[in-house]
Amino acid sequence: MEKDRGILIAILVVLPLLLQAAKISLSPPDGNSIDFEVTASGFQIYSCVDVNKTGHLSWALDRAEAELFDAKFHTLIGFHYFLPKPDAGGGRATWSLLKTPGSSSSELPSSTVTGKTITNLSGGRGNIDDLLVQATSHSGHTRLGRASYIQRIKTRGGTAPSDEICKVGGMTQAVPYKSDYVFWTQQASDVIEGHHGYIDAKYSTRPLFLLFGEGFQHYRFDGSAWQLFNASALLSSIPGQEVIGDHYFLETKDARGGQPTWSSFASPSTVTAKPVNTLRPATSDSISWADLHATGNTGDKYFFGGVTYVQRRSTRGGLPPQVSRAPKVGDVFLSPYSAVYWFYVSS
Ligand SMILES: *[C@@H]1O[C@H](CO)[C@@H](O)[C@H](O)[C@H]1NC(C)=O
Ligand SMILES: *[C@@H]1O[C@H](CO)[C@@H](O)[C@H](O)[C@H]1NC(C)=O
Ligand SMILES: *[C@@H]1O[C@H](CO)[C@@H](O)[C@H](O)[C@H]1NC(C)=O
Repeated sequence: MEKDRGILIAILVVLPLLLQAAKISLSPPDGNSIDFEVTASGFQIYSCVDVNKTGHLSWALDRAEAELFDAKFHTLIGFHYFLPKPDAGGGRATWSLLKTPGSSSSELPSSTVTGKTITNLSGGRGNIDDLLVQATSHSGHTRLGRASYIQRIKTRGGTAPSDEICKVGGMTQAVPYKSDYVFWTQQASDVIEGHHGYIDAKYSTRPLFLLFGEGFQHYRFDGSAWQLFNASALLSSIPGQEVIGDHYFLETKDARGGQPTWSSFASPSTVTAKPVNTLRPATSDSISWADLHATGNTGDKYFFGGVTYVQRRSTRGGLPPQVSRAPKVGDVFLSPYSAVYWFYVSS
């Protein structure tokens, strides 16, 4: 009896914690899969700074330096370090693989990815956070050259020293840490669990290509609700690759009711479309997945000019404000988001 009550209390205490933990996910959006995993050993390097110019010194992460090892054979396969300055996408944390695993000589790396942190979760007492990092730039075409997301998991150590020993501005302290890094890649096939062939069956179309979009959903408060009125996003093949086009809403709907538009820089062409179906409803942290029917095209028939359907999938963020101070009519809110857009042609 006493024991049962103990278990019940334990469940009541643990359940809310589990629910809370489930809310923040360190997983990349659906449509990405694990490419490979490495173990890392190195240092988190903190510098003693007066961040807010208030005369109060504290430790701030300056950079990290680590060696990367093959998870199976434990051979040195690369390095983790920070760029001196952020790249165009705002990333500094970088991973490079050696051309020849096991040899740390000064060979050029075979591939490199740089990324920015988009989610963090506590790594437990004394350990640095677990992270989800999104790629912001690449070099090389092998392995890391196709990384879309990087997870830092199983962290041990690496937390900032006590502020009490931060007495001299500019002083640095290297704290040993270990972790695993998991490199993800964006799936290039049309099979995403449970959603394969939806468009094919209904409209006899085939996928032409897919693009990663990152930017903002634009909302305006109309007196009773936040209304979506525009989007601004840059399009690339995967996160961190060269920008090849953009996404926005036409000023007004076109003759057939379409407004969301995708435009390519290199092969001048556009497709405008209107939403016809919800593939997956919005969740607590992401906008819906949707089917859109093309209402107008311009330019290159082999690019956006030939597209008949668009799917928005693998969404992250982009929701209107959840709870906020009372908005005024006309207030605008830009909600950061990313999605993968699939473009189809009639077959
Ligand atoms: C600096 O200021 C920001 C914003 O006011 C605050 O959140 C942060 O804790 C401050 N950092 C330090 C080290 O005092
Ligand atoms: C994420 O990082 C921020 C800044 O370091 C920290 O304040 C916050 O507690 C972290 N979140 C979790 C869930 O650990
Ligand atoms: C959306 O923004 C783009 C510029 O980013 C602009 O050209 C377009 O007219 C805007 N559309 C609406 C409906 O405001």
